[in-house]
Amino acid sequence: MPVTILAIESSCDETAASVCVDGRILSNYIATQKVHEKYGGVVPELASRAHLQNIVPVVDLALKESGCSMQSLDAIAFTQAPGLIGSLLVGAQFAKSMALALDKPLIAVHHMQAHVLANLIPDDKPDFPFLCLTVSGGHTQIVLCTSPTTMKVIGETIDDAAGEAFDKTAKLLGLPYPGGPLIDKYAANGNPNRFAFPEPQIAGLNFSFSGLKTSILYFLQNAGSSNVFKEAFTATAEEKQCFIDENLADICASVQHRIISILINKVKKAAKETGIKDICIAGGVSANSGLRKALKETGDKMGWRTFIPAFEYCTDNAAMIAITAYYKFLQNDFVSLNISPSPRAAFDM
Ligand code: KG4
Ligand code: ZN
Repeated sequence: MPVTILAIESSCDETAASVCVDGRILSNYIATQKVHEKYGGVVPELASRAHLQNIVPVVDLALKESGCSMQSLDAIAFTQAPGLIGSLLVGAQFAKSMALALDKPLIAVHHMQAHVLANLIPDDKPDFPFLCLTVSGGHTQIVLCTSPTTMKVIGETIDDAAGEAFDKTAKLLGLPYPGGPLIDKYAANGNPNRFAFPEPQIAGLNFSFSGLKTSILYFLQNAGSSNVFKEAFTATAEEKQCFIDENLADICASVQHRIISILINKVKKAAKETGIKDICIAGGVSANSGLRKALKETGDKMGWRTFIPAFEYCTDNAAMIAITAYYKFLQNDFVSLNISPSPRAAFDM
């Protein structure tokens, strides 16, 4: 008998639903919330309200697109953690209500594990064990994945996430939220070697991005003449803006180049230490064209097999929740209706 699962994702600012049959994605519907753009970041209360408005039409569309009826579903899955609690509650409550009404089992999915398993959606899958660099707005992790239901974080950021480094840089440049895709776009026409930003020396497989953010702040306050702190910064607000306007593409390309080199150098280290040669990326920042290219090129040089999810499976989506839920279904890993969502949760499984 085929296994049909409806999955719901609502951990942050995308309301998403997906249907999969035996691990094959039949629909993947995402409603992005535009309401946050003008605030320079996600406003939790507005996100919860938008989820409430979106969830019924999004689930309805995902079911219609898949051609599956509600009665044909074998389980309902939802993102249980981590995320914004108000956002998670909407998806969790909706999934629980459906499971109760349809008398179907409920599957709780960890959002960050799901990002990793987005790499199991295509036919061309990595072999176990594989390494995954998960880079999103809230997380930067190197994950050692030994089976679809066993994985462990072996390196992570000690401060900001890679996505935050992109978004905060964009904010300093006066670009709207989320800034990552815009930096990617402007970087395409810029010189990545024009401006030098420091690479932090962090022990082991961990990352740090807060020093980079600070050096970009000082760099702009000095209108590009230096990226160190000055008692009196050299540029007026007007000079700073003028410098940004004239050099936007080169600034974006140079910052992106540094973020990518920080990421790739740690992945190289992890591959060397573990001897693993199947390397994946995941999370919103894996949509970055420079990172995708750098991973492929590094992989070719190092003799790795590299795996990069399709764009729609990089940023938040419910297909990744569905594929994770499919493997949990095979292990009868269900939860009861009294489960609560959680803003934080242990990762290792
Ligand atoms: O995984 P995701 O959709 O949500 C979280 O779970 O955080 O990741 C969102 C992050 C944001 O920081 C966004 O700026 C970044 O992914 N992002 C990108 C690109 N597309 C999305 N960063 C750089 N280049 C991109 N093309
Ligand atoms: Zn995410």
